[in-house]
Formats: sequence, C-alpha cells, structure tokens
Amino acid sequence: MLNSLSILAVGAALANLASAVGNARVANNCPFAVTAWSVGSAVSAPQTLGTGGSYSEPFQLDPTTGGRAIKITINPSGLYTGDPETIFAYSLQGSTVWYDLSDVFGDAFSGHTLVEASDNGKCPFIIWSNGIPPAGSQVKNCGAEANVTLTLCAN
Ligand SMILES: *[C@@H]1O[C@H](CO)[C@@H](O)[C@H](O)[C@H]1NC(C)=O
Repeated sequence: MLNSLSILAVGAALANLASAVGNARVANNCPFAVTAWSVGSAVSAPQTLGTGGSYSEPFQLDPTTGGRAIKITINPSGLYTGDPETIFAYSLQGSTVWYDLSDVFGDAFSGHTLVEASDNGKCPFIIWSNGIPPAGSQVKNCGAEANVTLTLCAN
C-alpha cells in the first residue's frame, strides 16, 4: 500500500539516481601541456591542461548528437589545424555510460601510454601501451555513477 513514507522513499531513490552521475575526466600526466575541447552539438572553449592538470564534466546527454566527445591535441589550437586528435567519446544511456577511445589525423600520444578506466574496478578499461590504437572496437560500458578517467602518459 502506498503511504507517504513509501512516496518519500521513492522520491529519495530518484534524487539519488539523479545525483549519482559520474564524470568524464581527462588527467594529464604528460611532461607537456595538452588542450581539450568538449564537443557535442557545440564546441566548448579550449581547456589547456598543464602537467598534473585535469578536465572533468558530468556525463550528459547531448540534445542533438546524443553522445559527446572530448577531443585532445598537443597543439593548443590543434582542433582547427588538422593536428592529430585523441578522442574520448562517451554516451550516457540511462544508468549506463558507454566509453571509447580513438584517434584521427594521426596519433597525438604515440610513444606514451593512454589508459581510460572507470573508478569502478569491475568495469572494463582501455589501454594503449604505446599510444597507438589497436585494431577492433574499443567500446566499453559501465554504470554511469562512477567517473571514467582518461589518463594521458599513464605509468
Ligand atoms: C570524480 O570526479 C570528480 C570531478 O572531477 C572528482 O571531484 C571526484 O573526486 C572523482 N571521484 C573519484 C572517486 O575519483
């Protein structure tokens, strides 16, 4: 039977769900700066991350594209100059986030290790030990409540 107590409980559960969305994060461990853009239907201002710097945004559904992509270049204006881009794409679907790592126009982090992993250690991760994408699909998924971090120049 529905009483005011169970309504409160349902409300609290929904509020928890709403606030329990993790972040897409980029952590720059490289001995050089990188620049990131968050791209959906619009492109954010460039975010330059020095060594030890990080960028994060809560997982969000883009109203037009659905998924979103964080594009990273070493050149601070690389998005507009055709420089190699490493792309952390994600798509929030209900309580699941799908995440992927890819390169276009070359391999910006060739020779460095890239790791894209959830805080939830039970979820699959992506590792490029020499900064070069392996063949085949990289797409993984995890509960959307945990952060997923792309670490550039991971140890
Ligand atoms: C998740 O990301 C947020 C924003 O970057 C950060 O404040 C928080 O510490 C992260 N959580 C964990 C467990 O790393």
